Amino acid sequence: MGILGTLSFHFTNAAIMGWDVLLTLGNLVQSSRPVGKVTPEGHPGYGGYWPEYRPQQENDSRCACPALNAMANHGILPRNGRGIKFTELTRQIRTTYNFGASFCLWVPRIAANMLKRDYNKDTFDLEELDLHNGIEHDGSLTRLDTALQPNQAIKHVAFIEELLSFATSKDADGKALLTERDMSRISGKRRAEAKVTNKHYTMSLYHKFFGSANSSTMLTIFGGRVDDLRAILLDERIPEGWEPRVRKPNGLTMITFQFTVLPVEFRTREADWAGDAKRLADSEAGRR
Ligand SMILES: *[C@@H]1O[C@H](CO)[C@@H](O)[C@H](O)[C@H]1NC(C)=O
Ligand SMILES: *[C@@H]1O[C@H](CO)[C@@H](O)[C@H](O)[C@H]1NC(C)=O
Repeated sequence: MGILGTLSFHFTNAAIMGWDVLLTLGNLVQSSRPVGKVTPEGHPGYGGYWPEYRPQQENDSRCACPALNAMANHGILPRNGRGIKFTELTRQIRTTYNFGASFCLWVPRIAANMLKRDYNKDTFDLEELDLHNGIEHDGSLTRLDTALQPNQAIKHVAFIEELLSFATSKDADGKALLTERDMSRISGKRRAEAKVTNKHYTMSLYHKFFGSANSSTMLTIFGGRVDDLRAILLDERIPEGWEPRVRKPNGLTMITFQFTVLPVEFRTREADWAGDAKRLADSEAGRR
């Protein structure tokens, strides 16, 4: 990208931010959509009916993100996970998960920029998002670090089970719910462990916030509901009858999202888990 390209990228980012402010204000004055009416008519998931789930086949492209893989598994994105237009991604995340329109434009543009492609014209395969320390980073709640598992489409079931087991809250029906504090605790533990088990471990400040953004998606769009998260994280499947838990007409905006991301990140205390992590690393070294 030349200087003009870079300038226009940042200029557009600023414009998207401005748009996000307007959408956030709009949400403050408009009422939420009723339960059962979040997904708009004519889109996959309307009325709780999601297109058929078919787990990935050999050679299908998948990535480190369970929510995107689930869209491919339901055919909302191409089932083979290949040749996806960035613009298509923007359109489909909007109605599938009810992220705000600004958010849905922001993230795929960042991805296109990272892959040095043209957001408006080009396509990508899901696995291309796993460029290490681009979007993909260490200390995942659902994947082993790249140094230990180069194929980031492969989930690490033990991590996911542990994450879900950290839920301390319950809804009115007694079903398990993850809270902000639970996400901070498991993130701290995962980072402390990754640091001592992966000698190539890296975690920039940017990626810490990115990780907390993943956690915050689980708390907002998925409402922290362990049952639903089990389907999304383990099967990469959208549960039957599911709809996004954010019911605001303009969806989850980037500004509103920060009210979850910031507390989750600021309460993450890696140091609290350093002793446990060290014992784990020592016992693994002992086993070798
Ligand atoms: C997957 O790709 C490999 C290599 O391109 C090919 O040999 C194999 O037949 C493919 N498998 C399927 C099920 O398409
Ligand atoms: C957040 O998602 C990215 C991409 O899917 C992944 O590489 C990263 O490890 C995740 N972070 C956490 C803390 O789960």
